[in-house]
Amino acid sequence: MAKSYNIVVLPGDGIGPEVTGEAVRVLQLAADKCGFELKLSSHDFGGIAIDNHGKPLPDSTIAACEASDAMLLGAVGGPKWGVGKVRPEQGLLALRVHFDLYANVRPALFPSKSLLSLSPLKESVAEGTDLIVVRELVKGLYIGEKTEADLTPGAAGEAADVMRYNRADVERITRLAAFLALQSSPPKKLHSIDKANVLACSRLWRHVVQETVDREFAAQGVEVDHQLVDSAAMVIVSNPRKLNGIVLTENMFGDILSDESSVIPGALGLLPSASLSGLPDGKQKCRGLYEPIHGSAPDIAGQGIANPVGTILSAAMLCRYSLGETRAADAIEAAVRQMLDARADGGDEVRTRDLHGQAGSKDVGDAVCARLEKLL
Ligand code: NAI
Ligand code: MG
Repeated sequence: MAKSYNIVVLPGDGIGPEVTGEAVRVLQLAADKCGFELKLSSHDFGGIAIDNHGKPLPDSTIAACEASDAMLLGAVGGPKWGVGKVRPEQGLLALRVHFDLYANVRPALFPSKSLLSLSPLKESVAEGTDLIVVRELVKGLYIGEKTEADLTPGAAGEAADVMRYNRADVERITRLAAFLALQSSPPKKLHSIDKANVLACSRLWRHVVQETVDREFAAQGVEVDHQLVDSAAMVIVSNPRKLNGIVLTENMFGDILSDESSVIPGALGLLPSASLSGLPDGKQKCRGLYEPIHGSAPDIAGQGIANPVGTILSAAMLCRYSLGETRAADAIEAAVRQMLDARADGGDEVRTRDLHGQAGSKDVGDAVCARLEKLL
């Protein structure tokens, strides 16, 4: 009997429905060709859920996600909900915590060599950048206890956010980073980023990362170095190849460094991400939330011109990590690469405007599907 997977699609707001629509077409074709079945259902999430249910993560959406193998998200947010007390982004945070999606995996690489000229960095600096930021996502400053400031005149107005990590938190994210490093041969290098000269949490982090690698992964050839976050931030724009491999870091540093590194390839619409609840080793369920790194792009929403590549590549990650369907994942990534490289190969260029082309979202979906047909 064919394997069957339950996939929840959360189109979200703005260009979300446009980009997830194309990714779902690609995913469905990959499933048909590779012989697995998809049970897809769409649910309200983000701003649209606030409009329809009064909150960004309705109970019916949580229930559907609980019954799923993986979730594919477009993007949430927009000016309509930006300043309200109930905001779409709260749904994202709630989803991460509810499903303990502790590992955010964000590659920063050029899906095609022909895109090098889009980088804001000099080509000689950007060329060959190939790193994956692994960010701890459910602990640290963003999640710790908060004291809101009393802003009435005369009050001291003190605010506090608490950063807290323990050994188990650091061990599990280190294991996940090492697992990803071991997907390559020889294994990728781990670069652990902290602020151990100042923060107690970072001294714990540095110790436990090193200890876990030594104990569980050194024999398999995994190596780790440790760098301070401020200097890593400089390296990302001055010599990003130096961080090639897996960049492993805590929640807030990872938020900043993943955004910083994602500008190297020069187009927000290209890059995917995964947020995982476990090791994607096929031995246990690894539920994941997969989404492009861009937002809801209200300025171009509804025009059919959004670049769906980041969402299509997120669907490839979904196949790889949550479904274990490696052949489908490889083929989707290859189809995207072939499409982006088409001009170099003397073929038709299929690129959206953010990549200086004229194609619409649907043209990109069509082009990826046409290549997938041949590859599978
Ligand atoms: P944005 O990523 O939505 O847009 C920034 C610029 O990049 C815009 O000019 C947009 O047109 C362009 N762009 C983004 N994705 C594109 C694509 N796929 N194809 C072509 N062009 C694309 O960031 P912005 O404008 O700061 O935020 C808009 C809304 O999205 C806000 O409400 C923000 O909170 C939300 N947001 C949501 C995220 C999520 O759902 N994970 C992440 C980032 C922002
Ligand atoms: Mg961010």
